Amino acid sequence: MRESKLKPSGSATLTYENKKYDFPVYSGTEGPNVIDIRKLYGEVDVFTYDPGFTSTASCESDITFIDGDKGILLYRGYSIDQLAEHSSFLEVCYLLLHGNLPNKKEMADFDRAITMHTMVHDQLSAFYRGFRRDAHPMAIMCGVVGALSSFYHDSTDINDPRQREIASHRLIAKMPTIAAMAYKYSVGQPFVYPLNSLGYTENFMRMTFSVPAEEYKINPILAKALDTIFILHADHEQNASTSTVRLAGSSGANPFACIAAGIACLWGPAHGGANEAALKMLEEIGTVDRIPEFIKRAKDPNDNFRLMGFGHRVYKNYDPRAKAMQVQCHNVLKEVGHENDELLKVAMELERIALQDDYFVSKKLYPNIDFYSGITLRALGFPVSMFTALFALARTVGWIAQWKEMIEDPHQKIGRPRQIYTGAAQRDYIPISKR
Ligand code: CMC
Repeated sequence: MRESKLKPSGSATLTYENKKYDFPVYSGTEGPNVIDIRKLYGEVDVFTYDPGFTSTASCESDITFIDGDKGILLYRGYSIDQLAEHSSFLEVCYLLLHGNLPNKKEMADFDRAITMHTMVHDQLSAFYRGFRRDAHPMAIMCGVVGALSSFYHDSTDINDPRQREIASHRLIAKMPTIAAMAYKYSVGQPFVYPLNSLGYTENFMRMTFSVPAEEYKINPILAKALDTIFILHADHEQNASTSTVRLAGSSGANPFACIAAGIACLWGPAHGGANEAALKMLEEIGTVDRIPEFIKRAKDPNDNFRLMGFGHRVYKNYDPRAKAMQVQCHNVLKEVGHENDELLKVAMELERIALQDDYFVSKKLYPNIDFYSGITLRALGFPVSMFTALFALARTVGWIAQWKEMIEDPHQKIGRPRQIYTGAAQRDYIPISKR
C-alpha cells in the first residue's frame, strides 16, 4: 500500500454566511499547495464548482510533474529532455511503473517479462474480422483492448498485486501487437507475429510495416525517433484520458476495461486526436501563402476553427515535448529525404507567425506535442488514422502506472463528482391527455 506524503503546511479559512471554517493546506514536492476540502460538504453544506477541473487536484501522485509556466515535465523526477535524449521507451516504462531507473539486472528481467507477453491469444485475431476494413484503428483498439478482459481471467483480480503486475505487463506488451494488427487489417495484409529478439519499438515497426513476402530491415534512426516519440507520450499527469482510467478503475473495474475507457477518451480531437487533426489542418493550409487566412480564422470569435497543435490546458509556456518532437521531426525528414517537405515549411512558418501574433502571445498559446508529431509520423510511414493509436500505445504505461497507484492508495474512493442542479424544481406528473 502507498503511504501518503502530503506535508501539512497551514490552513485556509472560508467565510460563508458569516461563519468561518478552517481547512487544512498541504504541500507536495513541487507545484502549488492544495486546500483539503474533503469535509467541506459535510461541515458547510456547499459544493465547490469547477467544471473541467481547472483548479482541482483529484489525487495524490508520485509519478509525473508538470510546471506549465516554466514548461517543465518530469517523470519520477527526471526531465523529459534527458529521458528523450538518453533513455529508451522500455526503460521509461520501468521508471513509470516502479519509481526508479532500473539497474542492469532489473532492466533485463523487465525486458524479459514484457517480451514474454507480446503475442495475443489466437482467438483474439478472429475479433478483427468482425470490423469493417475501413474501421478507424482507434475504434478497433477500443473494442479489442476491452475484449482482453475476456481472455485473461487470471489477471483481472485487482486486489492481487501479482495479478495487477501481470495485467500491467500484458497491456504494455500487447498494445504494439494490437495496434499493428489494426493497421494490417485495414490494409488487407496478413498479421505479422512479434519477433522477440527485437526491441520493443523495432518489433512494433516490423509488425506494422513488414510483409511475409519481403525481408524487412529496421532503420535504426527511424526506430530511435519512434522510440523517443513513445517516451514523449508515455505519461502526462491527470489529463482527460488518465482521469478517465482512474475514474473507471475507482469502481473496481478490471485494468483491461479501464484502459479501453482511456483509449475512448484519448480519441477526441481536443486530446489524442489532435495529432491527426493537426496534420489534416496543415494539409488543408497546403502552402505558406495561405497561412494568414487560417490565422485570421483562428482569431475570429465567430469561427470555431482552432489552430490544431496549439495551446494546452497546463502549458502556458512552450510544451517541452514539442521541442523534443521538433528535433525528431527534423531527424526523420532528413533520413527519409523529405527535408524540403512542403508541410514542414507550412508548420515552421505557421509557428513563427503565431508566436509573434498578439492573439496567441496574450493567450499563451504555444505549439504542443501534436504540432510536429503528425508530420513526423507521416514521414515514418504511418497513415494519418494510426496517429492516435500510436499515442494510445505509448500512453498505456502511464495509464497503467496511474491506475496501479490509485489501487494502492488507501484513501482511494469511487470517483463521484457532484453538480449544481439548474433543472426544473419538483413538479407533479400530468397525464398525456391533459398536457
Ligand atoms: N487556436 C485558437 N485559439 C485557441 C486555441 C487554438 N488552438 N486554443 C485555445 N484558444 C483560445 C480559446 O478560443 C480561448 O479564447 P477566449 O478566452 O477568447 O474564449 C482561449 O484560447 C482559452 O482556450 P480554452 O479552450 O478555454 O483553453 P483550454 O485550456 O480549455 O483548452 C486545449 C486547451 C488544448 C483543449 C485548446 O488549446 C485546444 O483546443 N487546442 C487545439 C487542440 C490541441 O492541439 N489539443 C492537443 C493538446 S496536447 C496533447 C494532449 O494532451 O492530448
